[in-house]
Amino acid sequence: MAKIVVLDEHIANQIAAGEVVERPASVVKELVENAIDAGATSIEVQAEEGGLSLIRVTDNGSGIEPDDCETAFYRHATSKLLQGRDLFQIRSLGFRGEALPSIAAVAKVRLVTANSDQGLGRAIEIEGGNLKLNEEIAAPQGTDITIKELFYNTPARLKYMKTIQTELGHISDVMYRQALSHPEIAFTFRHNGNTLLQSQGGGDLLQVIAAIYGVNTSKGMVAIEAENLDYRISGYIGLPEMTRSNRSGMSTIVNGRYIRNQGLHQAILRAYHTLLPINRYPLIVLTLDMHPSLVDVNVHPAKLEVRFSKEPELNGFVEESIRALLSEQVLIPQVVKQNIGRGSTKAVIQEQFHFTRPEVTKDVEDGSRLVAADSTAAREVTGGIDNAAAAREQAAAGREAAPASGGAAGPGAGAGYSAPAGAAQPRTRCANKPRAATPVAAAAVLPPLRPAAARRHPARTQSARQERPARAAMPRAAEGKPRQL
Ligand SMILES: Nc1ncnc2c1ncn2[C@@H]1O[C@H](COP(=O)(O)OP(=O)(O)OP(=O)(O)O)[C@@H](O)[C@H]1O
Ligand SMILES: [Mg+2]
Repeated sequence: MAKIVVLDEHIANQIAAGEVVERPASVVKELVENAIDAGATSIEVQAEEGGLSLIRVTDNGSGIEPDDCETAFYRHATSKLLQGRDLFQIRSLGFRGEALPSIAAVAKVRLVTANSDQGLGRAIEIEGGNLKLNEEIAAPQGTDITIKELFYNTPARLKYMKTIQTELGHISDVMYRQALSHPEIAFTFRHNGNTLLQSQGGGDLLQVIAAIYGVNTSKGMVAIEAENLDYRISGYIGLPEMTRSNRSGMSTIVNGRYIRNQGLHQAILRAYHTLLPINRYPLIVLTLDMHPSLVDVNVHPAKLEVRFSKEPELNGFVEESIRALLSEQVLIPQVVKQNIGRGSTKAVIQEQFHFTRPEVTKDVEDGSRLVAADSTAAREVTGGIDNAAAAREQAAAGREAAPASGGAAGPGAGAGYSAPAGAAQPRTRCANKPRAATPVAAAAVLPPLRPAAARRHPARTQSARQERPARAAMPRAAEGKPRQL
């Protein structure tokens, strides 16, 4: 074995750059995160040729102290961690003190920064890790950092860069996630002079979703809010109709940091369960807030992955909260067995209704009318369970609660069935649109059963059908929760 030596700072930085600066998008991510940590309310990103020839990030944040400008490019130099225990309560996006030295090791960097609005700042230029310039300069408050010729001194890495379009795709992805994570910041992203993203920075997440995914898509998103002692969930979930072929539409944000976490993704997918077709994924922007001690962000060089200290509890809470919201929005049609005579059954898709108020009349209490009412109710009440006893029990329960009423059947009048408030809606075609609750008219009186011979007579059968409440007239919609836009 050769003699062991401590690597010099320059090589160490290039090695670190291999982890931190994988591609132009990683540079954008690190610089935007620095701007967010600096308290910027406006962040502008420009890129040229997929970020390989130029990346420029301008913010209106705190700026860097003139004396600290050079130090910021030293390895493990950070203003975000003061003592060891801070590592377990990280509230900033950066904390490793590795991004600037790593970027400066593999590119040509120019930093102009001012930490006050006096108009005086500092300019620093570094090429391949070597300081070229450090001077006073006129500058507005904030930081303006330009990265040119990324990987110019590491040809092996440059060779692995994909097409401009692919690199641009990765940068756009980073920008979208950052904008979704921080709706309170106004982001602008330009590539080769074309504006690809512009968010208002007013704090309205739905507006950012609209800017990224389009207005129509944003209209199909439903706000989610849930909270327990440890976690707060907010954001927007897409209804099951809006699916994607991969997980790219699933954004999970923890304490302002976009993260990837397998467990969380699985919890989201479990919540959607059978509502999604096979191999389709939902569109969702889920923001989680928790005490920083509940999440370890120091497990991935690019800080993309995290570890939760109470993972099962968090996943369970996420799953439950999404499922509860989805069940308010859609009703799952059930496949039930229906008797078609001669001992045969067929499977039919049936909507669910809740039996609440059948008509109470003397007739209903005795004989044939009771049978007629119950046999109709049986299928509706029990979601297709062909169990007359159970149906009768439910019908009886409904009768107890029923007020006396005239009960004339008419257009829109149900047969005494109404969906209780908050019950799920039938999912017929497009659960995407909020459904107004169907007004439930006074309970209808069902006609008595007719003798078999009468039922066979076409004219009578027709009239019986007219008397019977049309299926379409059944109350369908429960109180559809309106989308919160
Ligand atoms: N846009 C900026 N505005 C204000 N200060 C900045 C900005 N960018 C960098 N800094 C300062 O430079 C320091 C070093 O930045 P760098 O990104 O290398 O490390 P970090 O953000 O502390 O940690 P990490 O490596 O995890 O990103 C930061 O701690 C911060 O004090
Ligand atoms: Mg940083």
